[in-house]
Amino acid sequence: MRHHDLIAPGPIAPGTVWLVGAGPGDPDLLTRRAERLIAAADILFFDALVGPGVLALAAPGTELVSVGKRSGRHSKPQEGINDLLLAAARAGKRVVRLKGGDPSIFGRSTEEIGHLAAHGIAVHVCPGITAASAAAASGAASLTLRGLARRLTFVTAHTRAGEPLDLDWTALAGADTTLAVYMGRAAAPEVARELVRAGRDPDTPVMIAVNVSLPEERVIRGRLAALPFLVQTISDDDPTLLLIGEALAASPQGALAEARAMASADA
Ligand SMILES: C[S@@+](CC[C@H](N)C(=O)[O-])C[C@H]1O[C@@H](n2cnc3c(N)ncnc32)[C@H](O)[C@@H]1O
Repeated sequence: MRHHDLIAPGPIAPGTVWLVGAGPGDPDLLTRRAERLIAAADILFFDALVGPGVLALAAPGTELVSVGKRSGRHSKPQEGINDLLLAAARAGKRVVRLKGGDPSIFGRSTEEIGHLAAHGIAVHVCPGITAASAAAASGAASLTLRGLARRLTFVTAHTRAGEPLDLDWTALAGADTTLAVYMGRAAAPEVARELVRAGRDPDTPVMIAVNVSLPEERVIRGRLAALPFLVQTISDDDPTLLLIGEALAASPQGALAEARAMASADA
């Protein structure tokens, strides 16, 4: 394959659908394939977490359809989204379904792929940078640590309204585990309480990453016991990822932040 073929636009056959990982928000964190697909789409369906800089890469005249989902807010039911994708593909359009981060992680891609495939529509998936990877990069941290953090668990703290979090806390409390908690801002007090109750050290380092890769990005560091207080300044609307585990303290910036905090506490 020539280089020219790799960068040429038009990789979507009419009447087919691409689920495309849009990364954490900054268009610089898209894959080159994602960028080409976005530019080639006739119609783009996007979630609330897809950054404006990513949408700006669509060609003039592309139909942009928000099917946004935000925690606790009214959003289009999944079945409605499935049907919109199907109708656009049946109309012979080149369809791109943009999903924040990576489509395969808490992205409900199985429902969309299943619905389209059941109706004979060809579906392809383009991976994206998931929030946990982007958050680790922003904090100059590693999610694993040789000999100390051998396990990395992605978990969602999203529940249906009013339902308690039904997670295997004993499994998550292992000292060798780094936890990446998606949709965890509201549940942060429960996450901290249950982990400590299941035996996790209250002194375990945590890193809270808000609006990762966007101009409003914030990275907050602290300890598990303080997690309920650390999230209090974060608005419901701001995408927030909780990272919990020993690996977080070992990053140079983590050590630096800790040293600064200790110095100011001593002063
Ligand atoms: C429905 S999940 C989708 C995850 C996405 N598929 C991924 O791979 O990142 C949405 C959650 O991802 C996390 N998230 C997504 N983008 C983020 C960002 N830019 N900064 C912080 N967290 C983010 C937050 O925990 C948010 O509540």
